[in-house]
Amino acid sequence: MALNIAEYLRNNFNQLLVKYQKYETRLNPQAHQLTSVTKIDRYPGIFNAVKDCYPLNQRGPKKILSFGCSTGEECATLRNYFPGCEIVGADINRKNLKKCREKFDDDYLSFIYSDPDLIRKESPYDIIFCLSVLCRWEETELVNNCEDIYPFSRFEQQLNLLDQVLSPGGLLVIYNSNFRFSDSKLYRNYRVMNSCFIEESGFVHKFDLKNNKIHEPYVECIFKKSAAKSSLTNT
Ligand SMILES: C[S@@+](CC[C@H](N)C(=O)[O-])C[C@H]1O[C@@H](n2cnc3c(N)ncnc32)[C@H](O)[C@@H]1O
Repeated sequence: MALNIAEYLRNNFNQLLVKYQKYETRLNPQAHQLTSVTKIDRYPGIFNAVKDCYPLNQRGPKKILSFGCSTGEECATLRNYFPGCEIVGADINRKNLKKCREKFDDDYLSFIYSDPDLIRKESPYDIIFCLSVLCRWEETELVNNCEDIYPFSRFEQQLNLLDQVLSPGGLLVIYNSNFRFSDSKLYRNYRVMNSCFIEESGFVHKFDLKNNKIHEPYVECIFKKSAAKSSLTNT
């Protein structure tokens, strides 16, 4: 019997590892969006709008964080929009990170596990992209209150960490999130960057800070952090 189990484990090691990795992310209390859908140049409007925030005669971004980089296509895309800029992709799904490293061998791209200490170690970042990450879709599609699935506190906690690693004057880009950045305490330390490229902030449903579904449209996506040092991060 013991021999059979050992033999089974040996023969099915790779398959079991894949199954384990799938549930590892699902069970991780730090996980936001669980699916890994992505593609090259998924949000040209957002990328062009962010690029426009840097006039040619001014210093461009030096380091970018793609928070929730999935299998790396977003980082490869950013590499084209911001040539010469270092791009760090962070994800909580180790299988995705393995694919990133296999697919994209480039000195300007690096991929890290999404652990606060590792993200801090690579900081500061001039731009942080959180695209289709700070949400739970489709789980929140049909509910009027999302507290049991993905509460506002998770969104705000995550943004507190990201705010700490964003340079003063840096850009925070949030798209397809279940919540409005304007409901967070950090918002008053940021200025909204409007753009003709942006008409909406994603298709996932929005909820207020009490986790109740809202019905009015919300278009804000790009936020510029005040150049002065923030005292809000620990409040
Ligand atoms: C739908 S994909 C978005 C990929 C890419 N940003 C895009 O929009 O094309 C969501 C990704 O967020 C990742 N994710 C979820 N929670 C995370 C966390 N706490 N830290 C970093 N990544 C996370 C998931 O593993 C998944 O790869």
